[in-house]
Amino acid sequence: MPTPSNEVISRRERIARAIDLKDEILLVGAGEPVGIPGGMDQTYPFLSHAEYFYLADRECIGGVIAYDPKDGWRDFEPEVTEKERVWEGPRELKGEPLSGLAGWLAARRGRQVVNLGSPIAGVRQDAVRAEAVREQFTHARRPKSAAEIERIRDAVRASEAGYRTLQQFLKPGVTERRMKIEMEAEFFRNGADRTCYGSIVGVGTNAAVFHFTPGEKAARDGDLVLVDAGAERGRYGCDITRTYCIGKWEGVKRDLYLAVLNAQKKACAACRPGVEYRDVHLNCALEMTRSLVDMGLMKGSADSLVEQGAHLLFFPHGIGHFVGLGVRDASGRLPGRPVHTDKRVSTLRCDLPLQPGYVLTIEPGLYMIPAIINDPARREKHRDAVAWEKVEKLLDIGGVRIEDNILVTDGDPVNLTASVGKEI
Ligand code: GLY
Ligand code: MN
Ligand code: MN
Repeated sequence: MPTPSNEVISRRERIARAIDLKDEILLVGAGEPVGIPGGMDQTYPFLSHAEYFYLADRECIGGVIAYDPKDGWRDFEPEVTEKERVWEGPRELKGEPLSGLAGWLAARRGRQVVNLGSPIAGVRQDAVRAEAVREQFTHARRPKSAAEIERIRDAVRASEAGYRTLQQFLKPGVTERRMKIEMEAEFFRNGADRTCYGSIVGVGTNAAVFHFTPGEKAARDGDLVLVDAGAERGRYGCDITRTYCIGKWEGVKRDLYLAVLNAQKKACAACRPGVEYRDVHLNCALEMTRSLVDMGLMKGSADSLVEQGAHLLFFPHGIGHFVGLGVRDASGRLPGRPVHTDKRVSTLRCDLPLQPGYVLTIEPGLYMIPAIINDPARREKHRDAVAWEKVEKLLDIGGVRIEDNILVTDGDPVNLTASVGKEI
């Protein structure tokens, strides 16, 4: 049986230290493929649970990693069946047969089990305790190793090629779908094995729909095009957003872009050890609000506008999340930290101080979202905060978001996605 790589050994040591089990044992399940309803034997593409993948660095349907603090780690894996050999091809067993797990558990009868990753049939556990262990596990895997960062860089290299190729298609008449296809093809030609999430390409008003699925809409001269896409390689990916203008950047679209770009650059530069992510978010919200006041779209001081939540009219999401082993990698709060009640940062779901090795997104945006701008309750609440008559005329422009992936270090932050241009 192959021995685990040094990378896997060091990840396991890190997790063992962090979760610090005494008499309990740990089981981490990879999970099973999910069948497509009504699809006969078809399944959705299988990805092992991220907690399993982190400890195994490989995919394994039905795999189970077992850990006893008294005698170490074991890899159990379903035996290769004849059916599998016929339909899927031969597969080398990299772990020990899963049939051995029952004996391993029987030898530890009476000890509490913590089941992370995917649930394992027949295992009972204390759900509250499992959540507490998961919190420690998640926190321990936040700082990325050199090998993980290298894999993120591979994904960035593939993405970069896609964004480069995209530039030649940014012309009137190009559809969202065409842009997605041309860009993704380049991701794959440059080593991607998947996209890290469903690529978002939105033209005009569609640029203000956060998780927009590209369709047949064609860009016209002057339209904004928001592209949010990243490649993935070996389960590690990146998450990049750029906003383009078909034709010349001018007027309010240009001002909005520069407002986001200015705030985004400052936020990227602020990602240093010890800095609270929520402060990065808050300062970015203040910065963009100041710009909206300068543009004559908002009225008052940025501090008081953000205090009353008026910035949420145009920036209704958080500044980012962790990224790496998937697009929402190990996000969340510092272990033990309660959900914060600061309304000024209510849209940020991550709450923790930054540390060297963290890779996170910085993705502020300003949007004209009809569902928000036309909401009577918000208009009443923020009656005096917004130049409504000006804003109403901008409802067809969509929005601007700029997203980079930042590696926090002991020194200056490193922008891993800087090679995808964002200057206009
Ligand atoms: N790509 C989705 C996001 O930026 O969170
Ligand atoms: Mn993102
Ligand atoms: Mn994104």
